[in-house]
Amino acid sequence: MIAPNSIVDLEVFRRYSGLSLPRHVSYPMPTGWNDMDEDGALAMLQDSNKREQDNGLSLYLHIPFCEALCKFCACTRVILKKNVAGAADRVDAYLSAIERDLDRMASVVGSRRVVRQIHWGGGSPTYLSSEQIQRLQGKINDLFDVAPDAEIAMEIDPRTAPPDKLQALRAAGFNRVSLGVQDFSEQVQMHVRRIQPYEMVRETVSVCKALGFESVNFDLIYGLPYQTPATVRDTIEQAIALAPDRVAYYHYAQIPEKIATQRGMDYTKLPDSEVKLEMFMAGVELFGAAGFDFIGLDHFAKSEEGLAQAMEEGTLQRNFQGMTTGGGLDLIGVGASSIGHLAGIGFLQNMRESEDYIACVESGKLPVVRGKRFSDDDRIRQAVISELYCTAEIRPEPIEREFGIVFADYFARELTIMEELQRDGLVILQSNGAIRATMPLGRVLLRTVAAPFDAYLDDDAYRVGDKNCFSANA
Ligand SMILES: C[S@@+](CC[C@H](N)C(=O)[O-])C[C@H]1O[C@@H](n2cnc3c(N)ncnc32)[C@H](O)[C@@H]1O
Ligand code: SF4
Repeated sequence: MIAPNSIVDLEVFRRYSGLSLPRHVSYPMPTGWNDMDEDGALAMLQDSNKREQDNGLSLYLHIPFCEALCKFCACTRVILKKNVAGAADRVDAYLSAIERDLDRMASVVGSRRVVRQIHWGGGSPTYLSSEQIQRLQGKINDLFDVAPDAEIAMEIDPRTAPPDKLQALRAAGFNRVSLGVQDFSEQVQMHVRRIQPYEMVRETVSVCKALGFESVNFDLIYGLPYQTPATVRDTIEQAIALAPDRVAYYHYAQIPEKIATQRGMDYTKLPDSEVKLEMFMAGVELFGAAGFDFIGLDHFAKSEEGLAQAMEEGTLQRNFQGMTTGGGLDLIGVGASSIGHLAGIGFLQNMRESEDYIACVESGKLPVVRGKRFSDDDRIRQAVISELYCTAEIRPEPIEREFGIVFADYFARELTIMEELQRDGLVILQSNGAIRATMPLGRVLLRTVAAPFDAYLDDDAYRVGDKNCFSANA
């Protein structure tokens, strides 16, 4: 076992780990977005259509329903028991709205644009029946030009994905699945109210493999109450034994001020940041030993899997669903709370509540309520932050070429801070000007390396108590 203090300077780690910094699933972060109306959204979508070089589209469909609540959940979901009065009508109304939204989107973006990726997320898309899934996927195929080799993925809750449903997914063209696994310890499962025996996950994986899904991803979470480094190691070893192609190893996001249902957690059993460091290092050690590449902040992938290849090719992108190979595609979000990302143009976000979404779509309007049109500075910083999270490195040369800037001049302030981070062992400033996050300290504290490049964060974000980590900022 690797003890974190044998390779991480704990004094430095403690100083930086107290910072509350974003994980940058987008840049700018949603806190920097504005209210947006239909005209603003349409103008951005039309701009994306006019682009000379069209890389194609990625579609995201949000299905918010789940049968039961997992206490840790930070996703946008609607808990709806199937047997309560009106549940089926509610789901039908939502699916009709999705179909109408898809109609509208297809007419706005035009059928000539090729769809290269489709991702169904939630909530739990497997809440839907096989027929409902097939109907909706059929609608997408009718409306859009879906590439024959498109990646078609669904987030699967193993508790609602029996073999016949997985078979229906395969028949509808799905070729990738992502399983919500989270943790295998019974005590942790009981506490977070996500009871999902190992056997169930094993059976789901074995059916997925037999059906020929090209990639099977697992979502795991570390930092949950009652987890210890030993239970987390057990979970990782059990996960590896099932041979997933990739793993998202998420740090538990505890935001009770925003997510009321997390308030029922036993806070006295939450691991502290040094114990979480040990859990993170267990992931790096065990997945690494099992032949997985460590990607960005929190993903591991077999080298033959698309994610690792995309990292090599520079097309890897971080978004709200985790890591994706779809860099350069225009992401169109359909469904309540979905987020669209028009490459180089901006973000669009739909209204969050499913009832508002249904009412809005049925009235013939676009359900977009917030968004962000990028400035030149946003584009430059987005490229820098994205490269850092995907490859743990920032190379000035491609940024200079793409945006016509002199990196050292444009980021003079940030480079001064990087020198300080170099002194503390988080980064290495290379002779070609590249900034490389060190392994493990810089990778563990990647958010700290990214933060100075975020123009929307104020200097207070870098402070720990009354101490300023970056004296250059003082
Ligand atoms: C939409 S769910 C996946 C599909 C399905 N609902 C399920 O749970 O199996 C997306 C993933 O987000 C992760 N997640 C949810 N809440 C989280 C939190 N508070 N912190 C970290 N990860 C979280 C879980 O790993 C979960 O699998
Ligand atoms: S983790 Fe998945 S299944 Fe659990 S409540 Fe959240 S979205 Fe639903």
